[in-house]
Amino acid sequence: MWTPNEQPVDSLKIKVWDIPTRLFHWLLVTAFAGAFLSSHGDRFLELHTSLGYIALGLVVFRVLWGFAGNESARFSGFLRGWRKVKGYISSAARLRPPRYLGHNPAVGWVVLLMLAMVAGIAVSGIVTYGGEENRGFWAGVFSFEAGYNARVVHALLADLAIAVVVIHVCAALFHDFLLSENIIVSMFTGTKEDEETYAERVSHIGPHERRSVLRLVVWMTAALMGGLALLYLRPAGRTDFLHAPQPKVVDDKGFAAEMKVNATWLEECAGCHNAFHPTLLPAESWKKVMRGLDDHFGEAVELDAAAAVEIERFLLSASAERSTTEASRKLLRSLKGLPATDRITDIPYWKAKHADIDEQVFKRKSVVSQSNCIACHPGAELGSFEDHDIAIPE
Ligand code: HEC
Ligand code: HEC
Repeated sequence: MWTPNEQPVDSLKIKVWDIPTRLFHWLLVTAFAGAFLSSHGDRFLELHTSLGYIALGLVVFRVLWGFAGNESARFSGFLRGWRKVKGYISSAARLRPPRYLGHNPAVGWVVLLMLAMVAGIAVSGIVTYGGEENRGFWAGVFSFEAGYNARVVHALLADLAIAVVVIHVCAALFHDFLLSENIIVSMFTGTKEDEETYAERVSHIGPHERRSVLRLVVWMTAALMGGLALLYLRPAGRTDFLHAPQPKVVDDKGFAAEMKVNATWLEECAGCHNAFHPTLLPAESWKKVMRGLDDHFGEAVELDAAAAVEIERFLLSASAERSTTEASRKLLRSLKGLPATDRITDIPYWKAKHADIDEQVFKRKSVVSQSNCIACHPGAELGSFEDHDIAIPE
C-alpha cells in the first residue's frame, strides 16, 4: 500500500492526471465528507447546503472538463464499449487485468455513475431546501410535500453514494494488490511510471509480496468499516435545548417559519402537565380537546372565551399537519383513517414506539405517567423527540 512500492529515484514518470482533474477529485472528496458531517440536524444546514452547491459546481466542471481536459480526463479517453468493459472485467476476475494509465474500461462508467449520483443528491437537496425551508435556489418553487419527498430521495441517494464510495476505494486497493501500483498516490501526484520502469520494478517484487492477500483484506476491511461508520455513526450530540429553535411550521401561504410560542397557551395548558406541543396532534384532535375542556380527562379546565379562542387558533396554526418534524409526520401517517383522538398516547405510532417500555417505568416517581413526555424527552416542550436526546430517568 503506502510503504513497499518505493520508486527508483530515476524512474520515468508519465503525466496522467492533469491538475484540474486532481483538484476536482480531492475537492469533491472534501465537499462530500463535509456535507456528510454537517448533515445531521439544522444547526449546520447552511454549511451543508453550501457544500452541496459546491459539489454540484464541481460536477458541472468535471462534465465540461470531460470534453476539454487531457487524454485521461476526457470521456472519449475512458468511456469504452461493452465488449471492452466485459473483457476487462473477465481478465480482472482471472487476476490478470491489463494495465491502463488512465481509467480502465470498467471504472470509466463508474466515474459517470458517481457524477450522476452527486448531481442527483445535490438537485434533490435543492428541492428539499426549497420545498421544506423555502430557501435556496428554488425557494418557493416547490410545495412542502415535494420537498418532503425529495428529502427521501436525497437521503437514499446519499446512503447509496457512501456504498459506491466504499466500492470505489476497495477497487483502488484491489488494483494496488493486483498490479502493485498505488493509484491513490497517483491521484495526488498526477503521475505514473512508464511501461518499462513499471515492468522493471514489478519484476523485483516477489510474487508473494506482490499479492499479499492479508494486506488487501486489512485495507478493504478498513474501507468497509469506514463506510459503515459513516452510515451508522452520524455525528449527533445531545441537543442544547436552551438554544434549540422551535420547529418550523407552514403558514397558510405554504411558507415555513419557526413556530412562535403563544404565552396564553403556556400559561393555561402547562400547569397540570407538561405543555403538549401543538405539533403532536392533528387539527381535528385539538378541536376535540378544546371542545371538551369541561371534562378534560376528569378535570374541569376553566378558560375565558377569549383565551380559548386564542389557544385554539395557536394550536391549529401549528398542528401536526403544518409541522415539519419527523414525529408529526409519523404520528399523522399512523392515524390515517382513524377517528380524531384527544390523546397523543392513543396514537398507533406513539404506542408502537413505547411498546417496549415496561409499565413500571411509567409509574416511577420520576416519570409519573405516560403523558409526562418531558421526563424522558428533555425537548418535549420544543416538539423535539430525537433519539439521541432520550433519557429514561431512574
Ligand atoms: C386542571 C389541570 C389541567 C389543565 C389546566 C390542562 N390539562 Fe390537559 N390533562 C390533564 C389531565 C389530568 C390529563 C390526563 C393525564 C394522564 O392521563 O396522565 C390531561 C391530558 C391532556 C392531553 C392528553 C395527553 C396524552 O396522554 O396523550 C392533552 C393533549 C392535553 N391534556 C391538552 C391540554 C391543553 C391543550 C390544555 C390547555 C387548554 C390543558 N391540557 C390543560 C389536566 C389538565
Ligand atoms: C418513560 C420514558 C418515556 C416517556 C414518558 C415518553 N417517551 Fe417517547 N420515547 C421513549 C423512548 C425510550 C423512545 C425510543 C423508542 C425506540 O426508538 O425504540 C421514545 C420514542 C418516542 C418518539 C419517537 C422518536 C424517534 O425519533 O424515533 C416520539 C415521537 C415520542 N417518543 C414521543 C413521546 C411523547 C409525545 C410522549 C408524551 C406523550 C412520550 N414520548 C413519552 C421514552 C418515553
